[in-house]
Amino acid sequence: MKYTNITPSFGVELTAGTQLAEFTDDQVTALKQLAAERGIVVVREQKMDMKGQAEFGHRLGALMNAPVNKTDTPEELIVIRAGPKSKAVAGQGWHSDVSSEAVTPGLSMLRMEVVPPSGGDTLFADMYQAFETLSPSMQTFLRQLHALHEPRGHYLYQSGAKKLEELPSTVHPVVRTHPLTGRNALYVNAGFVAKIVELNSRESETLLAMLYDHVAYSVSIQCRVQWAPNTVVFWDNRVVQHHAAFDYHPEVRLGFRVTVVGEAPCLADVN
Ligand code: SIN
Repeated sequence: MKYTNITPSFGVELTAGTQLAEFTDDQVTALKQLAAERGIVVVREQKMDMKGQAEFGHRLGALMNAPVNKTDTPEELIVIRAGPKSKAVAGQGWHSDVSSEAVTPGLSMLRMEVVPPSGGDTLFADMYQAFETLSPSMQTFLRQLHALHEPRGHYLYQSGAKKLEELPSTVHPVVRTHPLTGRNALYVNAGFVAKIVELNSRESETLLAMLYDHVAYSVSIQCRVQWAPNTVVFWDNRVVQHHAAFDYHPEVRLGFRVTVVGEAPCLADVN
């Protein structure tokens, strides 16, 4: 697979001319490995419609469904839409997709159809580097901790399809190991985490605020994708957080996301 790096250690863009719809099974496997290693993979000028995206999504693994869609939208696609009446958009604020699930997502694949004349970028942050740039003492401390993830940022709650109490809340390790790379990544995000279970409230709030600041202010572990119609971006939720910039009101932005079921997060080297 040919690509250029977005930053020296985070994100890649596949070479022009790549068509995902023509990928062999080996190329799909290579794409998953590349996303595991580099966090995000950008692919431009895709000839792909909603049905084609759902079909490609199934080649990545089992998919989470969006049973609230209108009849012409496959239930595998989560609609990401903003327009003149939008006061907020899905994905505003740093988060990892639906981390409140017991079996959390692996890849997300977002394909944009309509983009504003300017703005509407998505920002990404590398959770491998977020963990690795903390001091060894802090890394050792975090390895012992777990966080309660609650579903207030869940697309099924935000779309009105489910009440909060109908969706699971789950405790996950604060540091997780990617099964394909063996590398450890920070796994707490402001969109879903309610508290660190081993700490009292003040300690938990203070530690989480420090970690969220670390993610938000560490610009050297981030990159930013500018969309065009027919751009597709894959990100690996195990090791990446993202943030949709809502700076384009009242313009329209329309995209579709498929979210691949991953596995329950675990930390391989608990000591
Ligand atoms: C999301 O959180 O999946 C939405 C990202 C975006 O719209 O850029």
